[in-house]
Amino acid sequence: MLKSYFGRLPNGKEIYSYAVSNGAISLTVLDYGGIIQSLKYCGNDVVLGYNTIGEYLDNDGYLGAIVGRYANRISGGSFRLNKKTYRLFKNDGGNTLHGGAGGFSGVVWDVTGDDASITLKYLSPDREEGFPGNLLTGVKYYLTENGVGIEYTALCDKDTVVNLTNHSYFNLIGGETIENHFLLIDADYFTPVNSALVPTGELRPVSGTVFDFRCAKSIGRDIEENDPQLKIAGGYDHNFVLRKDGFRKVAELSSAKAGIEMDVYTDRPGMQLYTGNFLTGRMGKNGKKIMKRGGVCFETQSYPDSVNHPEFPSTELKAGEMYHTVTEYRFHKY
Ligand code: GAL
Repeated sequence: MLKSYFGRLPNGKEIYSYAVSNGAISLTVLDYGGIIQSLKYCGNDVVLGYNTIGEYLDNDGYLGAIVGRYANRISGGSFRLNKKTYRLFKNDGGNTLHGGAGGFSGVVWDVTGDDASITLKYLSPDREEGFPGNLLTGVKYYLTENGVGIEYTALCDKDTVVNLTNHSYFNLIGGETIENHFLLIDADYFTPVNSALVPTGELRPVSGTVFDFRCAKSIGRDIEENDPQLKIAGGYDHNFVLRKDGFRKVAELSSAKAGIEMDVYTDRPGMQLYTGNFLTGRMGKNGKKIMKRGGVCFETQSYPDSVNHPEFPSTELKAGEMYHTVTEYRFHKY
């Protein structure tokens, strides 16, 4: 693992980047936010990012970051656990988004590593952003022969709730939006949202809708259709109910122009498909603009706002129990 100086926070703290490579795959991660700053497959950088810490501090879309303790929105910024109401910091209108204002995307992680992996640790104190319990969190990025894996662990001294993911924006070709990328998602249902982008609780069949990705289609084919769910979000910004359990392939993204396919594997029940609808065209690394729909996120997780939906898979973590989940992004030429 190669450690390099990356920049400085306003409080003077030095931020470092950590890089590992196996020839086919090169990965660079920051201790700030656990951000994947660069992921190269056969020399092609397939994620959006910035060159400087200042640009990351502006937090324009959680580029490459670990999001937690609780990915996506928690309705009303509160939830009940063990007959107690917990109130969180509301950083998205009346709701909490991606763990609150000081979520895991904005903390500096402790880093260790070896030739093929980078391991980050963060101890989130009891009541940080309002969440119960001291939560010791680990994120291990590891190289595989043709991809990168992310192993999340967490252990808490109180009963709590956890939902971790990574917010990388993928673009297999670069220099254009992801609308020409083809996408397949192994999901028969998705979770429709209200006007604040919080799931209503309904599981709606994708069949006959613009959300049907069971046969690969281009992301752009239906994205401008006059569908109320697409209109609310300005594109895709929805959780898909993934078929089957256990660690399995759930999605395929491909760019014919790049000749590259990326397969997403996870053990999670859900995946937020977010097509970068809120990106604003700021300048990113390597002189490339981070344009609207310039990248697509596959945020493997439990369904958003599960804490307020007993019918959704549970995100409760009992005191002393180990939270453990794995997601892998695997690449190949085609
Ligand atoms: C996504 C979320 C979007 C938006 C984005 C960050 O995970 O689904 O609605 O908040 O993060 O800009």
